Formats: sequence, C-alpha cells, structure tokens
Amino acid sequence: MSKNIPARYHPLQVSFHWLTVILVFAAFVLGKYMSGLPNEGGKIVPLGAHMVLGIVTLVVIIARFITRLRLPKPAHVTAGNAFFDWVGKAVHYALYAFVFLMTVSGMSLSMQSGLVPIVFGGSGASLPADFFDFTSRMLHGFIAPALLLLVLLHVGAALYHQFMLKDNLLARMWYGK
Ligand code: HEM
Repeated sequence: MSKNIPARYHPLQVSFHWLTVILVFAAFVLGKYMSGLPNEGGKIVPLGAHMVLGIVTLVVIIARFITRLRLPKPAHVTAGNAFFDWVGKAVHYALYAFVFLMTVSGMSLSMQSGLVPIVFGGSGASLPADFFDFTSRMLHGFIAPALLLLVLLHVGAALYHQFMLKDNLLARMWYGK
C-alpha cells in the first residue's frame, strides 16, 4: 500500500463502527420489544432507555461521519464487478443516512407526542394512547425495516468478501498495524 493510503481504518473509525453496531442493534431490539407493550406506566423505563440509546447513536454517527471525512482511510475494495462496487459505495452512504433518519424520526415522535417531560421529567402525565396517531411514528416504523435490509446487505457483502473472495476485508475494520 502507498504511504498515504492506509491498509485499514483509523482506530477511532474502527471504534465508532463497532459502537454503532452495538447501539443500533440494542435500539432496534428494544424498539421492537416495547412497541408491543401497552402504553402504561411500565413502558416509561424501556422508552427512556430506547430514547437515550437513540440519541447517543445520533451523536456517534455524526462524530463518525465528520471524522471519516478528515481521517485517512483505505481505498475502496473491488468485488471485481463495477455494479457491485457502485452498490457497495451507495450502501455505505445509505447506512449513514438511514441511521440518521431513524434517530431524527424518533426524536420528532418524542416531541410530537410530548414524551420528554413524561419519560425524563417525571411529569406523571399519561403516555399517549397510541403512538401511531403521530405521522413520525409511521416514518420511524417504515425506516426501521429499510435499515434492517441495508444492514443485511452490508453484512452479506462483508461475509462474501471475507469467505468467498478471501480478501480478509474484515481486518480493515479492526485494530492493528
Ligand atoms: C438508531 C436509532 C433507533 C433505532 C434503531 C430505533 C428502532 C426502533 C424500532 C425498531 C421501533 C419499533 C418499530 C416498529 O415496530 O414499528 C421503535 C419505536 C420507537 N422509537 Fe425508536 N429507534 C431509534 C431511535 C429513537 C429515538 C432517538 C427516539 C426518541 C428520542 C425513539 C423513540 C421511539 C418511540 C417513541 C417508539 C414507539 C414505541 C411504540 O410504538 O410503542 N427511537 N424504534
């Protein structure tokens, strides 16, 4: 590799990547779990945990995008096919966009439904009867499976590189010299 183009991502980018994986996974599982709960007092704690996870994800994804623009990064790999290479780039940008939209739609929902004082302010008011009365709930619910699909494509591509093309792509997203 040339002196200016590293063989792997910067350790900060690696940390942001795996932190994003953990946060999005946890927010997703918790979101799915709590959407099945009745809107009663017992839902306040899982809602609060989900909201905190989501907001931390937003901070991490913004920090990650900014550092991605500034830090040196390895060249794009090729799968030996121009179309796949284009899809690979597009999916990476789409992943940032969809995680961002997921967090923003979640925050709009919490504003529209007045959740912050109930969940974090201990206002004692009741939760809204149905989150689906708010447009942002539909958006949040539509973006979630789209993000899941993108993640599956992304993971599938990584495994294809690692085990079929055997180019050890995963090492680029881990620590080392
Ligand atoms: C990457 C970040 C996030 C992910 C992956 C995520 C994921 C999810 C998922 C999968 C659901 C259930 C969707 C469904 O079954 O239709 C959900 C519901 C919800 N999320 Fe998020 N979310 C994120 C961020 C946020 C944020 C930042 C907030 C608020 C500050 C938020 C508030 C909510 C609320 C209020 C619900 C509705 C629960 C219900 O219908 O009972 N989410 N989320």
